[in-house]
Amino acid sequence: MNSLVFSGVQPTGNLHLGNYLGAIKNWVGLQHQHASMFCIVDMHAITVFQDPIALQKAIRETAAAYIACGIDPEKSIVFVQSTVSAHAELAWILNCHTPLGWLNRMTQFKEKAQQSKLGTENVIKFAKELNKRIRRLQKSVDEGMVGHGLLSQYLEREKLEKYCSTLEVALADLEEDIKNSSVAKLGLYSYPVLMAADILAYKATHVPVGEDQKQHLELARDIAGAFNRAYPVSSPPCSSADSHMGHGSGLTRPTDRETSSVGGFFPLPEPLILGEATRVMSLRDGTKKMSKSDESDFSRIHLMDDADTILQKIKKAKSDMEPGPIRYNLAVRPEASNLITIYAAVRGISRAEAETEIANDNFSAFKTRLAEALIAHLAPIRAKMVDLLADAAELDRILKKGSERAADVANPILKEVKKTIGFPI
Ligand code: TYM
Repeated sequence: MNSLVFSGVQPTGNLHLGNYLGAIKNWVGLQHQHASMFCIVDMHAITVFQDPIALQKAIRETAAAYIACGIDPEKSIVFVQSTVSAHAELAWILNCHTPLGWLNRMTQFKEKAQQSKLGTENVIKFAKELNKRIRRLQKSVDEGMVGHGLLSQYLEREKLEKYCSTLEVALADLEEDIKNSSVAKLGLYSYPVLMAADILAYKATHVPVGEDQKQHLELARDIAGAFNRAYPVSSPPCSSADSHMGHGSGLTRPTDRETSSVGGFFPLPEPLILGEATRVMSLRDGTKKMSKSDESDFSRIHLMDDADTILQKIKKAKSDMEPGPIRYNLAVRPEASNLITIYAAVRGISRAEAETEIANDNFSAFKTRLAEALIAHLAPIRAKMVDLLADAAELDRILKKGSERAADVANPILKEVKKTIGFPI
């Protein structure tokens, strides 16, 4: 049957080495073997609040990163999720076929909900402290200890009083929300269903991702299976997908006999978890995943980090005190193992080969070697990103074209879904 690769990254802040080694780097090779689509998943990003200006900027940065890393937007389709309405439409239909129990199993929801709870608790703590200080200042003014002029210079007394009271009520509401565990939003909970819709809207067959997305992909397969069972079809699925390949998309699916989608409306998408660095860990704690949401900037390397920053971050990376050569041993030496994995991935060698290369290094020498390898690998990507970001109009043009090509593929499939479930089309 015919193959189609689909994957995406959330445009939230700077992309990091985990996104690159776990996902984007693998996409580059795959685009030469399969018809490919790479999406900037802004609808996933807003499952936690995003500043609108920052989101717009991050969307362009993500597009620039894809292209700078080697994605060819002429060959592959590069586009923004929210610009193709099929994602949202199919997500609703799939929501109606996904048992709650399946979503309750998702570990990432639990982690993110916890993060969002902790973030809110911090805001409450700081806001309360601020309120306390303002009230203290007011009291000092009232008691004549501070000149009234000082305060009125910034705010009128009455307005200040109103702000403080409103804030107190808002904080009490937020605390109540936390008690009722309602800080996390519905979108965060149903996020994996949207992810399934992203993939199935194109009848994609292969999904290259890092290890952390494995559970979401298993769910996407379960959802596809549930839909297939609810609406059995007599004709093979991919003949219909092929006829809907979207004549304007410029995408042709090469033949690939290895996918597991035999029968049913949707193919069952295969996760592709490739390479040495399927789970890049934090530079500060080898047991924690490298992530955009880690408070410490020193926990990750950004694609936009300059040479000095990379060197500094690697020099400060946590290591260990084990005697003898630096060896890969995940259970006993998580930090050393992570650094070896990163080194192997950027040098394009195996972990065993990396261990041989660094056999005589102590951590200081290894870190210099690693920083040099990272800088050599990432500097051209950074330079290309800077160039691309200097021409926002061109990036927008690429994304618009990508969006039109993506819609050409998705819309006929969505139409077929609607017909299948009995909606008027
Ligand atoms: P996101 O934006 O969290 O991450 C994007 C990609 O980077 C990989 N990744 C990592 N790989 C190795 N080590 C790490 N520390 C690391 N951190 C992130 C992720 O596995 C992912 O491949 N839900 C997805 C985005 C998405 C998607 C899709 C992906 C939405 N719809 C459809 C594939 C198909 C996510 O949040 O990825």
